[in-house]
Amino acid sequence: MIDILGIGCATVDDFLRVDVFPTKDTKQAVLGEDRQGGGLAATALVAASRLGMRCAYFDMLGDDDLSRWVIADLQNEGLDTSLIIRHPDARPIHAVIIVAKDGSRTILYSTAGRSVGDDDIPSLDMMTSARLLFMDDVNTNALGGLARAAADARAAGIPVVADLELSHYPPLIDQIDHLIVSARWAAEETGRSTLPEAVEALWSAHRAAVVVTCGSEGAWYMDAQHRPTHQPAFAISVVDTTGCGDVFHGAYAVGLLEALPLNERVRLAAAAAALKATQLGGRPGIPTRAQVAEFLRTHD
Ligand SMILES: Nc1ncnc2c1ncn2[C@@H]1O[C@H](COP(=O)(O)OP(=O)(O)OP(=O)(O)O)[C@@H](O)[C@H]1O
Ligand SMILES: [Mg+2]
Repeated sequence: MIDILGIGCATVDDFLRVDVFPTKDTKQAVLGEDRQGGGLAATALVAASRLGMRCAYFDMLGDDDLSRWVIADLQNEGLDTSLIIRHPDARPIHAVIIVAKDGSRTILYSTAGRSVGDDDIPSLDMMTSARLLFMDDVNTNALGGLARAAADARAAGIPVVADLELSHYPPLIDQIDHLIVSARWAAEETGRSTLPEAVEALWSAHRAAVVVTCGSEGAWYMDAQHRPTHQPAFAISVVDTTGCGDVFHGAYAVGLLEALPLNERVRLAAAAAALKATQLGGRPGIPTRAQVAEFLRTHD
């Protein structure tokens, strides 16, 4: 039995550190380069894995170097990759991120290659091997399949936690129990100008919880017991907020499986995301369960 099955995006992020952002038709040496894993679902699962949960990742990947790199990276983090389906034409999303000394980040990315379609999304049998289903909507080719999977999971009593960033597809939105989205997505979806209003507009009696995150402003949440309530961001010395939203999602899912009440789940998620922000890159700062427990004990 696994704890969390994640369906969604895993990326290969190649960072090129340069002095200044290049001007066209010039040559410039890079000061440093490194490769990191990213992606909403993949980073959320890595966070949940470091926090102690057994996680499995589902996607379609190929036989190329980038696909093999993603699988090795996820296995290195303790994830079960046995559910990944392989197709010779499939590729992970590949990003090249140019980071200049002034802090600017310019992301060039490729979505070339085949990706999962509606019919490839796991069946109920696969989902019932997990205690929680996590999904993101980066692959907008499979929104119908995701909506079907979410409906099946809920009907089987498996909670569905989702990060929606790119799509506004009501059949999928309606099936999400724990809808955790950014302030930007919430504003686009609801047209409401304040976050408490947006949270309320996203709430419905069919949901278990709504959380809207707003970076250094923290998050707003509500459920059947709470009116829209604010969780401030923890004050830490910020180095890099890449992936904070993904880590927030993964830690929230962990809190749900630990049966924490909503306010404590959101506090756990905010603490894990804050610790991530103290280190450079999307993955290095992701804490263990003991580290986040110690942080929560020593911070209000
Ligand atoms: N500067 C910060 N200081 C402390 N905590 C932060 C900071 N930025 C983000 N966080 C934490 O991470 C959570 C999620 O961040 P944010 O709202 O930026 O996610 P996002 O918009 O989904 O971004 P992304 O997906 O690119 O990481 C916030 O609710 C907050 O708890
Ligand atoms: Mg996000």
